[in-house]
Amino acid sequence: MSGFSVADIRADFPILDQTQNDKRLVFLDSAASSQRPRQVLDAMNEIYEHSYANVHRGVYQLAERATNGYEGARSKVAAFINAPSADEVIFTKNATEALNLVAFSWGRANLTADDAIVLTLMEHHANIVPWQMLAAEIGFEIRWIGVTDDGSLDLSDLDRLLDGAKLVSFTAMSNVLGTLVDVPRLTAAAKAAGATVVVDACQSVPHMPTDVTEMGADFVAFSGHKMLGPSGIGVLWGRMELLDAMPPFLGGGGMIVNVTTDGFTADAVPAKFEAGTPPIAEAVGLGAAVDYLQAIGMDAVRQHEVELTAYALRTLTERVGEQLTIMGPSEPAARGGVLSLTLSDVHAHDISQVLDENAVCIRPGHHCAKPLMRRFDTAATARASFYIYNDTDDVDALADALIAARDFFTL
Ligand code: ALA
Repeated sequence: MSGFSVADIRADFPILDQTQNDKRLVFLDSAASSQRPRQVLDAMNEIYEHSYANVHRGVYQLAERATNGYEGARSKVAAFINAPSADEVIFTKNATEALNLVAFSWGRANLTADDAIVLTLMEHHANIVPWQMLAAEIGFEIRWIGVTDDGSLDLSDLDRLLDGAKLVSFTAMSNVLGTLVDVPRLTAAAKAAGATVVVDACQSVPHMPTDVTEMGADFVAFSGHKMLGPSGIGVLWGRMELLDAMPPFLGGGGMIVNVTTDGFTADAVPAKFEAGTPPIAEAVGLGAAVDYLQAIGMDAVRQHEVELTAYALRTLTERVGEQLTIMGPSEPAARGGVLSLTLSDVHAHDISQVLDENAVCIRPGHHCAKPLMRRFDTAATARASFYIYNDTDDVDALADALIAARDFFTL
């Protein structure tokens, strides 16, 4: 297997050191939210115990230390995604808020009733609903890139879909199928058509090297809690010239240079988009998560997941048998460590319940991607997802539990 010891990694995650029903807890739901290592918990405790105050406000030393911690995290995130400037990194509540920011700030300023935007059927609701809300307000058209039977984007009609489109917004990796989208290719085609490009990189940033410059997009959104950081913090990276021209999203303290009874003057980016007290300890925790991932190396993280996914595809298919369907691309290199499973006509919640009795945590349901589920005529799947603390023992436990579910429900 890849160049790090999963046993050593696992020892850093206190939450994984527990049993349920006398079985070792097997956590396979990192696509929903990862767990976090002691180093992240310690960094957050440290700021709360020794260096916490509000940021960008106080002129006392404690407040300066807190501000340095918060801004230091911004620099770490910028380096992690190769952003040209740390000022292009905006901290939000989560990736959903980051996508809403683009829709309601950039979208309101740039889209009219005569325009069209392009989404894909593979999107999470977070990259659908904000655009639908805005379309209801403004009246622009939403076009959809379809999905092929093997779970790839259907680009056969791309030229027509992109013709005259003002914006293209798509996921870098499906949270249901695991499909990796060729971001530079789709971005290049969208840019050639004159569109602004948004990438929902929630599922890819935690699991592989990310270079926003190479991606070629205008905006990239992701969340902290899927990449070993805390919940309550997400990131929007955007090109400075676009961010600079955009109106604020939320109004309040921290995002102005002046307010009078007649109006306000917005501060510069990123402060313009960070109204109110920001997620201070969460930013510091995210910075510690970035340090942790960089110490492992994102190439090694990706290699581990490709190997584990290959093992899982092989093992589950061989051991659970023909009643099991694994959605998405069959080639491990074409996907991330996310496996959506169906087992004959057993409901995903029933599968999940049997798995839980066996101490295996997975997510059942529509995964906030209803248009995609509808495309595959499926109401729900049981989704197992991997991260650096998972190994072949976890896959074997998943296979054992799926066999128990199969035998309980279908024999
Ligand atoms: N977006 C998260 C998921 O796919 C919550 O489960």
